[in-house]
Amino acid sequence: MNSLIDKVKNILFYDADREFFAKVFPDSVAAVDLLRFRKMSPSDLSAVIAIEQQVYNFPWSENIFRDCFTIGYSCWVCEDPQKGMIGYGILSIAAGEAHIMNICLSPEVHGQGYGRRMMEKLIDVAREKRALTMFLEVRPSNAAAIALYEKMGFNEIGVRKGYYPAENGTREDAVMLALELL
Ligand SMILES: CC(C)(COP(=O)(O)OP(=O)(O)OC[C@H]1O[C@@H](n2cnc3c(N)ncnc32)[C@H](O)[C@@H]1OP(=O)(O)O)[C@@H](O)C(=O)NCCC(=O)NCCS
Repeated sequence: MNSLIDKVKNILFYDADREFFAKVFPDSVAAVDLLRFRKMSPSDLSAVIAIEQQVYNFPWSENIFRDCFTIGYSCWVCEDPQKGMIGYGILSIAAGEAHIMNICLSPEVHGQGYGRRMMEKLIDVAREKRALTMFLEVRPSNAAAIALYEKMGFNEIGVRKGYYPAENGTREDAVMLALELL
């Protein structure tokens, strides 16, 4: 029965169909396949900041997020039908280069494939805007993020010394990674 459902699903891949299958055959659709993306709006900021503060030791302030809107960065949130808004990603795109400024998922969903989905969305957006290369910085101590980026094909291109604030007033380097989008 499940293989028949899978065959039908592979023919019909619209979101509405996925939601139909999720309702009628709940075991036949992975939660990550029901994730929806939409542009972040100022009304999302309180939920975004709640996640930001849960996840990072040195979270962005509300003003930094507001500046992202003002500057015109490409700001996205992802929503799970059951859990609501569970993550966000912010991209700067100019002159053929896309830069991931922030990507963050709620701790309750880490390790379930949502981060990869968010990265795929940001890469799609960058390609649509004709970016040729995507860049990002990451703390060397952030093993989960580095694993995700390496699995998505990013390569190390350098180190920014003392880029991030760290505990006890110290600084942590940033590893710079890049992905060719051609
Ligand atoms: C980094 C982050 C976005 C990853 O998202 P996630 O939903 O937890 O990751 P996923 O479940 O999609 O995993 C993606 C891949 O990375 C690997 N991965 C994820 N967490 C890992 C960990 N802790 N250790 C090793 N590998 C890990 C997975 O095995 C997976 O590989 P696969 O797709 O081949 O199975 C998420 O952990 C997060 O929001 N962290 C806090 C904010 C942050 O650090 N952002 C990055 C700043 S540079």
